[in-house]
Amino acid sequence: MALVETVIVAFWLMLPAYVPNNAAVLAGGGRPIDGGRTWGEKRVLGDGKTWRGTAVGTAAGALLALALNAVAGDVGSAIGADLPTFPAAAVLALPFGAMCGDILASFLKRRTGRERGAPFPLVDQLDFVVVSLAFAFVAAPGWFTDWFTLGVLVVIFVLTPILHVSTNVAAYWLGFKDEPW
Ligand code: CTP
Ligand code: MG
Repeated sequence: MALVETVIVAFWLMLPAYVPNNAAVLAGGGRPIDGGRTWGEKRVLGDGKTWRGTAVGTAAGALLALALNAVAGDVGSAIGADLPTFPAAAVLALPFGAMCGDILASFLKRRTGRERGAPFPLVDQLDFVVVSLAFAFVAAPGWFTDWFTLGVLVVIFVLTPILHVSTNVAAYWLGFKDEPW
């Protein structure tokens, strides 16, 4: 694969994992997943991880994967690239994995004494990638190894922190988010 095609495939594959966090920021609120419970001195997860944000985020990513499936053929022939479609298991695993990665990061933030909203460099940028890739691998191993080549994985790990930082700064400036990370 040429570099441009590798970048396009990497971005396409990860879109259903990128959108959930942003959708959760817009939809968040209501009952926190940890129900206010603490572990030791600190909250288990904190008020930033809600049932509604998690459900809406997962649904938004899954719907996007289905939409991408519908247009993959046309977009692929228009740009002259072979684009992946998402098998049903990956439609759910990528966005749900992204939300679980973000929740796991909040769990680790609270255990290491970081308050809600505190930055945790690299963990904030890559938590959701690692867990969504792991879930996708378990859910659809054959499909995963076909598409997530070494080159695609390298692009994902370079591209994601850049996209994550820039979308969060944009969301902060637009007033959707309390902190720019
Ligand atoms: N959000 C949510 N449910 C999730 C993830 C996010 O409701 N599973 C919403 C919350 O309103 C949250 C906002 O999106 O405040 C921003 O998400 P994030 O930056 O991940 O949470 P923080 O509030 O910064 O909390 P933490 O320090 O635990 O990451
Ligand atoms: Mg945050």
